[in-house]
Amino acid sequence: MTSEIQSRQCVDGDLAALEATEPPGANISRNLLVHQAAGTLVYAAAWRKHQPAGTVMLDLLADHTPELKHLFVHESGQGTGIGTALCIWTEAYAAKAGFNKLHLSAGIENWGARQLYARLGVTPTGRATTTIYPYVDDNGQEQWATETDHVFEKALID
Ligand SMILES: CC(C)(COP(=O)(O)OP(=O)(O)OC[C@H]1O[C@@H](n2cnc3c(N)ncnc32)[C@H](O)[C@@H]1OP(=O)(O)O)[C@@H](O)C(=O)NCCC(=O)NCCS
Repeated sequence: MTSEIQSRQCVDGDLAALEATEPPGANISRNLLVHQAAGTLVYAAAWRKHQPAGTVMLDLLADHTPELKHLFVHESGQGTGIGTALCIWTEAYAAKAGFNKLHLSAGIENWGARQLYARLGVTPTGRATTTIYPYVDDNGQEQWATETDHVFEKALID
């Protein structure tokens, strides 16, 4: 399945394809591309036939150690290796950029993400963060969510 999927950094020309997978008015990709242009993050997607099957971002400002965030695979592609491929792409990018580790977070009840991270060989840092954030639901309405995450660390080899 992953052989027909290619992970790469997103560029401004990808905006229409990325936005087509978002709730109306969410502006997620638009904002990420703006921040990427400012150099604060790297935004990448796994592409299948010019359609994004999943996305991820590497936050370069996060506490001196870059943090892999917003890993998301569209429901139809979950469990087929896309999330793993995006994590491996992000690790390789961070290693090439000269970092020797990165952080990853997973919600305390997100067993899927935790299992994926465990397979990647992450170790717990013992830290937890709680975030309150707005999001746009499938009907285009703004909602607020509270999430507590455990923070993990992955050592990188260039
Ligand atoms: C969590 C998520 C990113 C995993 O990506 P994925 O492409 O489904 O995972 P992969 O196929 O690469 O890896 C599968 C492994 O991860 C775990 N896994 C996590 N979510 C899974 C899912 N929905 N279906 C199957 N396996 C899943 C399994 O342990 C599996 O290991 P196995 O193959 O040995 O059984 C994806 O399911 C997703 O986008 N979920 C919703 C958003 C989310 O929770 N993001 C993570 C934020 S920290």
